[in-house]
Amino acid sequence: MKKILILDGSTRKQGNTSSLVKQFTDGAKNNASIEHILAKDLNIDYCNGCLRCNLIKRCSILGDDWNDLAAKILEADVLVFASPIYFHYVSAPLKLIIDRFRSFVHVQITEEGVKHTPWVKWEKHFVLLLSMGSSNAIDAQPVIDLFEYMKGVMGDNNRLHVIKATRLAVIKQITKSKEELIELYPKLKIRGDLAGGDFLRNKTLLKDCFELGYKLSI
Ligand SMILES: Cc1cc2nc3c(=O)[nH]c(=O)nc-3n(C[C@H](O)[C@H](O)[C@H](O)COP(=O)(O)O)c2cc1C
Repeated sequence: MKKILILDGSTRKQGNTSSLVKQFTDGAKNNASIEHILAKDLNIDYCNGCLRCNLIKRCSILGDDWNDLAAKILEADVLVFASPIYFHYVSAPLKLIIDRFRSFVHVQITEEGVKHTPWVKWEKHFVLLLSMGSSNAIDAQPVIDLFEYMKGVMGDNNRLHVIKATRLAVIKQITKSKEELIELYPKLKIRGDLAGGDFLRNKTLLKDCFELGYKLSI
């Protein structure tokens, strides 16, 4: 059975990110074991840059939740990173986790550039479920760039799947009916005639999450 670990950077319950995660989970749950972790509920210290991981092959920080989480990350076949886009990036609780990934790799500074060698071979699917207020998915590009880089750092056998959900400003917006969007859009100063198309697009996005969950669970 596939192991799926969802690292969820949501900061509000029942937000748009949660809807993306729910659909992904529903798609996967019959075939995979799934653990869904809310990053903000963990006690994760920030990486202090001591670089001892280069010597001891694990993070030197003890006493927080990283060691348990690191074991789960290493075991997972599919790692889902779900986040609202905050200032073109992932939310802060998720960034704390990402920085600690430094301890999964040996890093060498060479004349040709920085060389990364994971301590163990990684062959995982990385999934990004990203929700943003902007109508233009360019706001999520720094996160996608980071994970393209991360995929390379962890080795060529890793794969990246991205779902970008745009124009989602208020809570539960992605699950609103067409009528609710027609009522909402003028308040957000968004053209009302976009509501119909957005309703269909939101439905498609949720379906995409479900189907990706299913595809990666088998
Ligand atoms: C602190 C903060 C920063 C944000 N920065 C961006 C941004 O840079 N680009 C964007 O498109 N949306 C931005 N947003 C909007 C959220 O990404 C968007 O509303 C998202 O759908 C929220 O997801 P949630 O419902 O799961 O909380 C920001 C929201 C907050 C609170």
